[in-house]
Amino acid sequence: MNADIQGEHDAVVHYLMHAWTVAQVYGPQIEAIARDEMQHLKWLAHTVVHLRGTPDFSPRMVSPVSDLKSAVTADIAAENAAIAQYEDHIRQISDMTVQNLLRRIVLDERDHRRQFEEMLSKIDETDGELAGPSMVATKEVAQNLQKLLSYEYGQVLEFLFRYFVERHNETIGMGDEDRAIEEMKHLGWIAESMVALGTTPSWLPEDNQTGSIEDGSDEVKAYERLAEWAQNAYPEMIPRLHRIIGHEQYQNLTRHIRLFTVGSLKESVSNPWHKDVSQEKERKN
Ligand SMILES: [Fe+2]
Ligand SMILES: [Fe+2]
Ligand SMILES: [Fe+2]
Ligand SMILES: [Fe+2]
Repeated sequence: MNADIQGEHDAVVHYLMHAWTVAQVYGPQIEAIARDEMQHLKWLAHTVVHLRGTPDFSPRMVSPVSDLKSAVTADIAAENAAIAQYEDHIRQISDMTVQNLLRRIVLDERDHRRQFEEMLSKIDETDGELAGPSMVATKEVAQNLQKLLSYEYGQVLEFLFRYFVERHNETIGMGDEDRAIEEMKHLGWIAESMVALGTTPSWLPEDNQTGSIEDGSDEVKAYERLAEWAQNAYPEMIPRLHRIIGHEQYQNLTRHIRLFTVGSLKESVSNPWHKDVSQEKERKN
């Protein structure tokens, strides 16, 4: 089932990238498919935790695509592979409840394949090439955006992992699932801005790390610097940046637990949560 989780995670990051970069008119439709995949991931992760396993939330890589046709062709292949893998797992798993869940997911995957095939049949050869940017980011701004993008991705995974694995007490307001969703929005806004500024977002930097921003206040500072730059250079971005900054400030107010980066999450994926809690205890003592 962790292989299925990885497959859904792959689907989410690929479809989001395709929606943000080359999708044009199909952006909303591909994003809706990505949301289905997020739900599948959620159902599978809850099931793995219920079966006393640890859901695998290690970061996934995305290979960039240059046009809509190759994106949709890859997406059809991904749906075919997913359907074959689920059918195989349905044969291997004897538990009826899990079998029924996987059959329910396959139902969606078949419809995704149908949608992508329909898109492919409508795409004109000249469609889907990246439109020229309205303006171009400086190298430094592009690097900062990339760093923030990777950082947001790390945060999504951190909050998701906490949401699935931690035992929750009652909480005031926002929970970890909401935080993960909030970070996904930031991720999308940053990626869309990068595309508008003529840079292609890369899902993870080459060293696989999430960048050097270590804590929440540094993140806020990075966004504030970006907002200063955008004031004259790219004012359309300002409202979104202010919203992100407000979100992050609230997160910092309500965050009790040490952050971990994608790197550390990956290293300790066998049981990261317990390790983290014990470190917290040590620090308090
Ligand atoms: Fe799926
Ligand atoms: Fe799918
Ligand atoms: Fe964020
Ligand atoms: Fe954040």
